[in-house]
Amino acid sequence: MAAPDLKVFSGSSHPGLAQEICDCLGIPLGRSHVVRFSNENLKIKIEENVREMDVFVVQTSAPPLSEGIMELLILLDALKHSSARRVTAVLPYFPYARSDKKDEPRISITARLMADLLATAGADRVLTIDLHSPQIQGFFSMPADQLTAVPVLCEELAKGDLRDTVIVAADVGEAKDAGRFAKQLHLPIAIVDKRRTGDDENAIARAIIGEVRGKRCLLVDDEIATGGTIFSAAEFLLSEGATSVSAAVVHPVLSGKAYERLAGSKLERLLVTNTIPIPDGKKADRIQVLSVAPLIAEAIMRIHDGRSVSALF
Ligand code: R5P
Repeated sequence: MAAPDLKVFSGSSHPGLAQEICDCLGIPLGRSHVVRFSNENLKIKIEENVREMDVFVVQTSAPPLSEGIMELLILLDALKHSSARRVTAVLPYFPYARSDKKDEPRISITARLMADLLATAGADRVLTIDLHSPQIQGFFSMPADQLTAVPVLCEELAKGDLRDTVIVAADVGEAKDAGRFAKQLHLPIAIVDKRRTGDDENAIARAIIGEVRGKRCLLVDDEIATGGTIFSAAEFLLSEGATSVSAAVVHPVLSGKAYERLAGSKLERLLVTNTIPIPDGKKADRIQVLSVAPLIAEAIMRIHDGRSVSALF
């Protein structure tokens, strides 16, 4: 698979995923060196030749988030100044994706700001997975390819017993994606009516559209952050007569009290991908992690060769 003018570099947010991508591509991970000065300024040096090369930089959105964003911007800038022919920013989980609209007065649309910053820093393209809303692709003045991990999750789910199972969208916004799961797995669909009040990250499931009584429910969502959405929906589904509840979620943000909530919840299984690293000490028994490295590697190869990326979904 290796191509002589293809290089992949990694920021410090998820080196394991970047290495896995390189393993799939059959190339070594590009070498770069970060110096952190006492005043917290960063210096990044690309430690190999990238002149006229097709370069991909992997940096996901994970803590420490702001530092990761700054590191990515500096990496892109360093690659541009090192005469790379084309630089693609690979952001498996896009930062600030939930800040995609002006739904309150006097707030920033930070996802759009992120898109502008990537362009300013020197990215020629962006490659990402399951944006919070697909319209974010329109924030970019450069080509932005959005992959979906839904087939990765479905492939694993299809290995299990899916009798009496219903796909449940964790909220109305997730209905479209739930439809993709339902189509691939030939299952019926239900939707949770979720409400949030302000910024307190407390999501409350209030009603269900669809039949869940006596069913095994498979909640689907693009991300699990504090877990408010998934765990409140799980409780509600059980109170409505579901026999069990599991969840399949692309991005395991798992912030705030998510792990404590998982420990206290009746969720049977949480299937996620590795778009965001889960620290070793936090890997709970009920969490199963699937790799998106083969998917990203295939997309990189297709972009590099000028082949269709949409053929992947
Ligand atoms: C919201 O619209 C998203 O699809 C997720 O439901 C949300 O980001 C999950 O956040 P949390 O786990 O904090 O409820």
